[in-house]
Amino acid sequence: MTNVMDIIAQVGIVPVVKINDVTKAVPLANALVAGGINVAEITFRTSCAAEAIAKVSTECPDMVVGAGTVLNVAQAKQAIDAGAKFIVSPGYSRDVVKYCQSQGVAVLPGCITPTEIMMALEDGLNVVKFFPAKEFGGLPAMKALSAPFAQVKFMPTGGVSLENLAEFISAKFIYACGGTFMVKDTLINEGKFDEITKLSKLATDIVKEIRG
Ligand code: 3PG
Repeated sequence: MTNVMDIIAQVGIVPVVKINDVTKAVPLANALVAGGINVAEITFRTSCAAEAIAKVSTECPDMVVGAGTVLNVAQAKQAIDAGAKFIVSPGYSRDVVKYCQSQGVAVLPGCITPTEIMMALEDGLNVVKFFPAKEFGGLPAMKALSAPFAQVKFMPTGGVSLENLAEFISAKFIYACGGTFMVKDTLINEGKFDEITKLSKLATDIVKEIRG
């Protein structure tokens, strides 16, 4: 089986999904897969996150589902028990990182500062989330950080769009881009799954053109 981190790199995009109604989870996952995005993080921003992860995990075998906005070990455990194949956190919790590693599950913690990146390196990680990317300096900030941390690659999240995706993906220090631009709340809540597929396809076409 291909490694989860390899799949994230290959797709180059990680949709940041918020599910308000659990019945939307599987159609949403299928819509993303139809658009070429077979990876997504379902965020712990709603009470049905774990249930949504479990449903996608069992009903959408082509989707590599992870959990996002994981703030503590209890949520990481809930997510992994539900079938999450990777864990994303907005910031750095060493407890969450260690727990995921103990379970053999990929983890992408948020790192903005050199100190946080050094913690990640000490813990054996070299791919980190950079959030909120736009507010913390975007590409120029990650470029500056990649001078001392050449071995680190970033997953910027926050401010990525179809308009700037190419610019992000072209940078050698970018691993993948996180974002909501193809899974906006209104699209999910109104069941506009064709639109989600269309936006996903546009995004994957951009990544393919750059990364081949
Ligand atoms: C998040 O909520 O994790 C990110 O801020 C998503 O940002 P975006 O809506 O700009 O993609």
